[in-house]
Amino acid sequence: MISKTQFATPQIVNPRMAGLPDYPFERLRRLLDPLAPPAALDPIALSLGEPQHPYPDFVGEILHANRHLYGKYPPVAGTPEFRQAAADWLVRRYDLPQGMIEADRHIVPCAGTREALFRTAFLAVPPEKAGRQPVVLMPNPFYQCYAGAAIAAGAEPIFVSALAETGFLPDFAGLDDSILARTALVYFCTPANPQGAVASLDYLNNLIALSRQYNFTLVVDECYAEIYNGAPPPGALQACAAIGDQDLSGLLVFHSLSKRSNVAGLRSGFVAGDPDLLKLFRRLSEYGGNPSPLPVYAAATALWRDEDHVVANRALYVEKFDLAERVLSNRFGFYKPKGGFFLWLDVGDGEAATVELWTRAAITVLPGAYLTVPDNTGNGSDDSPGNRYIRVAMVHDKAVMEDALARIAQTL
Ligand SMILES: Cc1ncc(COP(=O)(O)O)c(C=O)c1O
Repeated sequence: MISKTQFATPQIVNPRMAGLPDYPFERLRRLLDPLAPPAALDPIALSLGEPQHPYPDFVGEILHANRHLYGKYPPVAGTPEFRQAAADWLVRRYDLPQGMIEADRHIVPCAGTREALFRTAFLAVPPEKAGRQPVVLMPNPFYQCYAGAAIAAGAEPIFVSALAETGFLPDFAGLDDSILARTALVYFCTPANPQGAVASLDYLNNLIALSRQYNFTLVVDECYAEIYNGAPPPGALQACAAIGDQDLSGLLVFHSLSKRSNVAGLRSGFVAGDPDLLKLFRRLSEYGGNPSPLPVYAAATALWRDEDHVVANRALYVEKFDLAERVLSNRFGFYKPKGGFFLWLDVGDGEAATVELWTRAAITVLPGAYLTVPDNTGNGSDDSPGNRYIRVAMVHDKAVMEDALARIAQTL
């Protein structure tokens, strides 16, 4: 007979999971929940990167027209139409040579990229590399999923600072050879969340060369690729094509409709790249994945085929970044990001500024410290590179952003 007291202390079944820190939004709630905003102001949330721009009406129409398909289990490989639309978009967007991307070999859909990015660590991290615990590299600040995936897959996450001095891009090649030899997987994001830095074709080519030299899987998270100011951000597949290299081994790129088409709740994206890795990726999905419903594949297919809404969406962000430049001008190290939809503002003490903005202006932002950890490469300072910053998600319409930016300028 099992006594009640045996349940008194919860067991951590997998001790690795104890290493997963609290998610940034949980930390934010802990920071702000005990504090009240001014009663006279409507709260504005600029903490979450959830686009509030409209999405095309045809999304609802297609979901409705295909509603009879909700009764079917959807295939993990998606539909042929979806794969072809994604492949055609890649070719158009990155000017790839005909034949480089075959829809059925090089594309696998995912129900949003977060889970797919997470799952990739289980494909890419072996039990050992160079006789030791494998390493997963990522930029610092980083999208939290990368770190969680590294820990869950049994790797040591190493956080490579991406500071203003280096254009907010991490220098992976500058790491000690002992780290690179143990590296099984690199997560890299361009345009970067949160700083909006964009990697050049040269940067991407060097990173791809590094992945081959040290035999690691390279994940390039391009989910902000369609939100930019100026030239379209290059992609990793384009970098391969630019040097006439159509060997995609070890490379996976991730694209999402969440930011491109403002349908974060539709949960639709895709992974493209190394056909052998994608085969394993699909197999893993067959065991434990959760593919998008068929009506979602149908709507997503139409979204990847349509550019009008993407052009209009991008123009709204450009207007809002122009507005931010006017309102914040030279304060807080303001710069217009090359891509993505965040401001990354140097306010001296990001956590203190977050509290000020909530209690005096009813604005929520995310302290940069919640997106960073102290550099553990052995090359950097012990400080967390986000401590001085706040991340401001420019996701609301222009009128709301005008109000929010004015409140930020007045408060800090
Ligand atoms: C850098 C980055 N990658 C991936 C994602 C995941 O997006 P989704 O799962 O909606 O495709 C996000 C979402 O915020 C993100 O910021």
